[in-house]
Amino acid sequence: MNPDFQTLTRDNIVAFIADIFDRRGGEEYLGEPVTMAQHMLQGATIAEQNGMPEEIIVGALLHDIGHFTSEFGTYHPDDTEDRHHEDAGAEVLERFFPSVITDCCRYHVAAKRYLCATRPEYFNRLSAASAHTLELQGGPMSAKEVAAFEANPNLKEIIQVRYLDEAGKRPDMDTPGFDHFAPMVQRMVDRHLGEG
Ligand SMILES: [Fe+2]
Repeated sequence: MNPDFQTLTRDNIVAFIADIFDRRGGEEYLGEPVTMAQHMLQGATIAEQNGMPEEIIVGALLHDIGHFTSEFGTYHPDDTEDRHHEDAGAEVLERFFPSVITDCCRYHVAAKRYLCATRPEYFNRLSAASAHTLELQGGPMSAKEVAAFEANPNLKEIIQVRYLDEAGKRPDMDTPGFDHFAPMVQRMVDRHLGEG
């Protein structure tokens, strides 16, 4: 069952996301030793343990939310093409979250292509599955793409979340559940939309 996307508000968006984690989080993260929920919770937990700002913690927590594209299937009834998962996620988030969060989601695949082009040692951090999809996603960026990417004001955060994306693939890590992060996510929504 898809919830009616249009009924999402600042008061139920966090519950909507929590519900996705709950119902869909156990799904396999293709080729990785963790589920989708473990992957996103690991990134957020590592960020929190390292004292990173809330933007990074929440960015890591939500960066792959678009993997559950069917949850957002009613959003664009006229779509004829499959959308990229990172765009689907960002479209949901942009109504409620600041651009730094949506950019961490929208550009996490681009960030991999960027880092592979600009930091030669970065490629070695990629899991086998991620190295494989790199080719499908266009391979390392060209110099022109790199220059365009560097113009994004949220570049630093996008890259930090990308490193957490790589880090959050541990078969043996304990993390708190989504509930632990929910108040932080709500705070971010409220701050973005204004307290009123
Ligand atoms: Fe990811």
